[in-house]
Amino acid sequence: MQRRRVLSGMRPTGRLHLGHLLGALDNWRRFQDEYECYFFVADWHALTSDYADPSHLREHTREIVLDWLSAGIDPDKAVLFIQSHVPEHAELNLLLSMITPLPWLERNPTYKEQLQEVTNKDLSTFGFLGYPVLQAADILIYQANFVPVGVDQLPHIELTREIARRFNHLYKRVFTIPEAKLTDSPKIPGTDGRKMSKSYNNCIYLSDPPETVQANVKPMVTDPARVRRTDPGNPEVCPVYDLHKIFTPQGERESYVVPGCRTAAIGCLDCKGVLLNHMLPVLSPIYERRVKLAEQAGEVEDILAAGTERARKVAGASLMEAKKAMGI
Ligand code: TRP
Ligand code: SF4
Repeated sequence: MQRRRVLSGMRPTGRLHLGHLLGALDNWRRFQDEYECYFFVADWHALTSDYADPSHLREHTREIVLDWLSAGIDPDKAVLFIQSHVPEHAELNLLLSMITPLPWLERNPTYKEQLQEVTNKDLSTFGFLGYPVLQAADILIYQANFVPVGVDQLPHIELTREIARRFNHLYKRVFTIPEAKLTDSPKIPGTDGRKMSKSYNNCIYLSDPPETVQANVKPMVTDPARVRRTDPGNPEVCPVYDLHKIFTPQGERESYVVPGCRTAAIGCLDCKGVLLNHMLPVLSPIYERRVKLAEQAGEVEDILAAGTERARKVAGASLMEAKKAMGI
């Protein structure tokens, strides 16, 4: 029996943070033991919006792969590659563009939203409108059964399914209809209490050394009612406690953190110390693996070269079938 296939991609937008680890990467790590997994860096997708300044693209691509590997994505289990190294995606993108009705793309909610909200870039391009067609090509070319994504990507997966159905109906049943596997990511606050996001400058990065993690957690925003050490607090409104829910065992939370906060028996710095005791053993090994990997010249390149070769075999076979079905 063929194992079922999982495929997912990330745009190279910079170093990954705790949000990516607890959202996407923890899921990917589980999937790689159960499914045949394909994970890739969507560098062409990055170009759809950042075409005017691609100066960081290569650097960000390498960073993201380093982050994956250090977080435990295993090249012996999953196929890792860069989208633009598998030109078959581009050829399938072209073929799928022939059968994709323009209104399907124009009514894509992500497209409409971004056109309105993004004001510092000109997104009125062919490439940006076609973003979901390229994504459909990424997915369909591997005959993926499951696509782990966040909820924001659901319209793109729905479009992928529609394009696949249309192709299968017009020509021949070539493509597997994929399903989204929703990543349920816990609430991950940044150090200022807002959602962790690069644009807020409030992130804890996988590539941060333990000292930096410590230095960023110490001044983290807490329950604003705890002005003085003697003021009791409420963990339920405290972003530090959101991190405790992820890292600190329930027993210790209920016996020490919660009562300590509510009675002011512990101070916020003590509380953050407890959090760090549980967070650093998760983050430090990732950091250490990353430093080692980054030092090994050619290691990432070799992993990607091997992944590209495996990916191209599978992609080439589906592309051939698609071309045949379309009379090319
Ligand atoms: N659009 C996805 C994102 O921004 C990235 C992506 C590109 C992707 N191609 C994909 C995700 C194929 C899943 C499958 O997150
Ligand atoms: Fe938050 Fe802990 Fe301070 Fe309570 S003691 S407000 S949970 S940091």
